[in-house]
Amino acid sequence: MATTSQTNVTLDTIVSLAKRRGFIFQSSEIYGGLNGCWDYGPLGVELLRNIKESWWRAMTYRDDIEGIDAAILMHPRVWEASGHVQSFSDPMIDNKISKKRYRADHLIEGEIEKLRKKGRTEQADALEAKLNAASDPAEFYQIIIEHQIQDPETGQAEWTEVRQFNLMFKTYIGPLEESSSAVYLRPETAQGIFVNFTNVLQSSRQKVPFGIAQIGKSFRNEINTKNFLFRTREFEQMEMQFFVKPGEDAKWYDYWREQRWNWFRDLGMQMERLRMKPHEKLAHYARAAVDIEYQFPFGWGELEGIHNRSDFDLGRHTEYSGKKLEYFDQVANERYTPFVIETAVGASRSTMAFLCDAYAEEEVKGEKRNVLRFHPKLAPYKVAVFPLVNKDGMPEFATKLHGDLQRSFKAFYDDSGAVGRRYRRQDEIGTPFCVTIDGQTLEDGTVTVRDRDTMQQERIPAEGVGGYVGQRIA
Ligand code: GAP
Repeated sequence: MATTSQTNVTLDTIVSLAKRRGFIFQSSEIYGGLNGCWDYGPLGVELLRNIKESWWRAMTYRDDIEGIDAAILMHPRVWEASGHVQSFSDPMIDNKISKKRYRADHLIEGEIEKLRKKGRTEQADALEAKLNAASDPAEFYQIIIEHQIQDPETGQAEWTEVRQFNLMFKTYIGPLEESSSAVYLRPETAQGIFVNFTNVLQSSRQKVPFGIAQIGKSFRNEINTKNFLFRTREFEQMEMQFFVKPGEDAKWYDYWREQRWNWFRDLGMQMERLRMKPHEKLAHYARAAVDIEYQFPFGWGELEGIHNRSDFDLGRHTEYSGKKLEYFDQVANERYTPFVIETAVGASRSTMAFLCDAYAEEEVKGEKRNVLRFHPKLAPYKVAVFPLVNKDGMPEFATKLHGDLQRSFKAFYDDSGAVGRRYRRQDEIGTPFCVTIDGQTLEDGTVTVRDRDTMQQERIPAEGVGGYVGQRIA
């Protein structure tokens, strides 16, 4: 019967399917595109919205988390307090001949991977240890020169010095482009949460432990954008900061690690393509940090970070704003600065992961079938409705059923071509259920419902289709 071969899918296959079927387009494509920016097409925007909705429900439809939507532009002092002005930068190096620009740490990582592929494990480990110990530009430069690391595209090794490059996009408030009016596009959503700690605490009457969640756009002027939606200059994040009593942070860190892992599992992600990777280097204020990584077609990459950030963030904003961001526990009669457990996941990066994860190529009765096996909650269209033929009252019946379903679900109507081809078109965009109106429908009011994954059909009363689809999605 069907054999799957999706494990070897290339990024090019995903990018081309995403464009052909209207998931993702290059930004400003008719002008040659804009590097590191992508547009979501009709199906992509549904997938993205479904991912965000699943996250929002999981994180905020509970008593101890509140949602917010903060402004993208914030007071410039926010980014001084957060440390972004001083240190949100990457080490950058240029090839003097080709003028190509790279992140110095990525060049070294590439070299480590090359050594591992050649089986030179000891050398790879030694180089990795040096990379982990390096923090300033001179150290990265030293490693690149010492190991004669070449430009991966040209093979040349004529390098400039390494310089630190701040990733924040700067712009100006008002008509004058002067330093006093400079602001930044936020590079993360988290700071909008920290600065609203007291507002949310007082207005919602929450008690510690409680969390604040937010979904929104972030911007980073990445030195190299590559791998489709993985590293872009404009992207969306879904972040939640959970405020806890110092001393209870380790317990909540474990709790959120498990919750976030289960979120991916419950949305049908293939678990062998997910792993937890603890950070080897911790920021000075961090107590613990782990990444949930996904095995993308180009290798393992971070999807989400879960961090125990101690009282660093509220402490810094207290220091810079002069406003105490504290919690008073009336029962214990004690005042403290809460610790923060942060969960930070990319909505855009998750969209790419769910796309790669759902993709399968199969052979069915000697024919190739491309299918996106999205969890029904994430699928852009939940159901498609087909009249078997365009006569004998079938289109009228199908149009009415489609209209009824559309009130509750994103539903597709297709009356062109053989039914087998209509199934294939829906398989390729991941529609989990296809309903066909045929001769028997007109006699007894039943329709066939075909399941995308098993390709089995069952006959049910037409008025039961809405209930059936709703139940299967849930
Ligand atoms: N507040 C913590 C924070 O922002 P991060 O690890 O820098 O942490 C969190 O970002 C998540 O945001 C990442 O795991 C990734 O999914 C997503 N992300 C970060 N930079 C990105 C980029 N340039 N393009 C797409 N997604 C990105």
